Amino acid sequence: MNEIPTLESLKEQNTDTQFPIFNALQSKEHEQVVICSDPETGLRAIIAIHDTTLGPALGGTRMWNYNSEQEALIDVLRLSRGMTYKAAISGLNLGGGKAVIIGDPHKDKSEALFRAFGRFVDGLGGRYITAEDVGMEEKNMEWIYSETRFVTGIPKSLGGSGDPSPVTAFGVYMGVKACAKKAYGTDSLEGKRIALQGAGHVASYFAKHAAKEGAKLFISDIYEEKAIKLAKEVGAEVVSADAIYGLDVDIFTPCALGGIINDDTMGEFKCDIIAGGANNILDVEDRHGKMLVDKGIIYAPDYVINAGGLINVAGELEGYNEKRCHEKAAQIYDTILGILDYAAEHEIPTYRASNILAEERIKSVGKIHKIYSSRGHFTGRFGEMYMRDRG
Ligand SMILES: NC(=O)c1ccc[n+]([C@@H]2O[C@H](COP(=O)([O-])OP(=O)(O)OC[C@H]3O[C@@H](n4cnc5c(N)ncnc54)[C@H](O)[C@@H]3O)[C@@H](O)[C@H]2O)c1
Repeated sequence: MNEIPTLESLKEQNTDTQFPIFNALQSKEHEQVVICSDPETGLRAIIAIHDTTLGPALGGTRMWNYNSEQEALIDVLRLSRGMTYKAAISGLNLGGGKAVIIGDPHKDKSEALFRAFGRFVDGLGGRYITAEDVGMEEKNMEWIYSETRFVTGIPKSLGGSGDPSPVTAFGVYMGVKACAKKAYGTDSLEGKRIALQGAGHVASYFAKHAAKEGAKLFISDIYEEKAIKLAKEVGAEVVSADAIYGLDVDIFTPCALGGIINDDTMGEFKCDIIAGGANNILDVEDRHGKMLVDKGIIYAPDYVINAGGLINVAGELEGYNEKRCHEKAAQIYDTILGILDYAAEHEIPTYRASNILAEERIKSVGKIHKIYSSRGHFTGRFGEMYMRDRG
């Protein structure tokens, strides 16, 4: 085992005397970061809890081959903060958290590693509740679940909510309709020309809703066969992955990757609305959010319109009910309209408006915590619900 350096030797190297970790946490107002290490299984994970004002911090676990520990820390801090805003604006009684497991998802997975991780999650007693994210599979979630009940997004066969993409897509569809209402005075998508980027899970369910309402769809995917298959199902036209940006359409609906609104693509858009399910659509939030305003394009903030996935897994905490999750995802319509109105009234980009509204909710609900309640904040009720739900 390597020797632990003495304080004197650290001072000589002039490292870490400024508490860089606390600085990193405080700069984005994180509450807690848990470093999880288990050499036997090779587990190296970081759990970040950003804010628990509204409830336990819920957010997925990502497994990724980060180039450095610093990169992993920055990622988990950024992602967990995003979850706080997503839960808050969606009216959920949840805080924001996220976890990252450092490792190659193709090589470093084992039952023991995920079970070790599950025990760390369990040790947080419900302050953090995990779910599936990039690099994780259903089987991995089941291993985590065998060590802790604080997991959502598990298969339906285990009492969970299963694939979230139908609810995500329904929320996206409602959000697109809200944008249409703002732009055209009616939320009907009949006859509207929609460019759909991606033909994966979310895109496919979205396409079915939009086509049923009479929208004219143009679909692209880097795997053309996926676009062709979906286009056949919904009576759409296939376009190339590059051509999708510059199409003469009413609505552009990105349901593939993040960062697609950037300096290169900005000049191409001819649409009135950009609203879709992909995460982190704006390459640089401030810069590209502002540029869309200048171009007169209505932009639905990604973390608001794609919150159906979170709404779906959050439903597990109350005993999963698909109909109720759809009803809650339908409220994305009103949330988006509220954001568009607020942005117009205050002459700010829509992503800014939604951040402000999310912060206001956290602040106002946080204030009621000053009132003493015999039940504690949330853990008791959550614990009870969970016991009832999962036995
Ligand atoms: N699945 C959910 O419930 C959910 C929830 C919230 C957010 N999201 C976000 O929505 C997006 C789509 O998720 P998904 O679950 O449908 O993923 P998916 O992997 O099923 O589909 C993504 C599709 O995009 C295609 N693609 C990748 N790059 C492309 C490009 N440049 N041009 C055209 N197509 C491209 C892929 O080939 C794939 O078919 C992701 O950004 C994801 O983070 C998903």
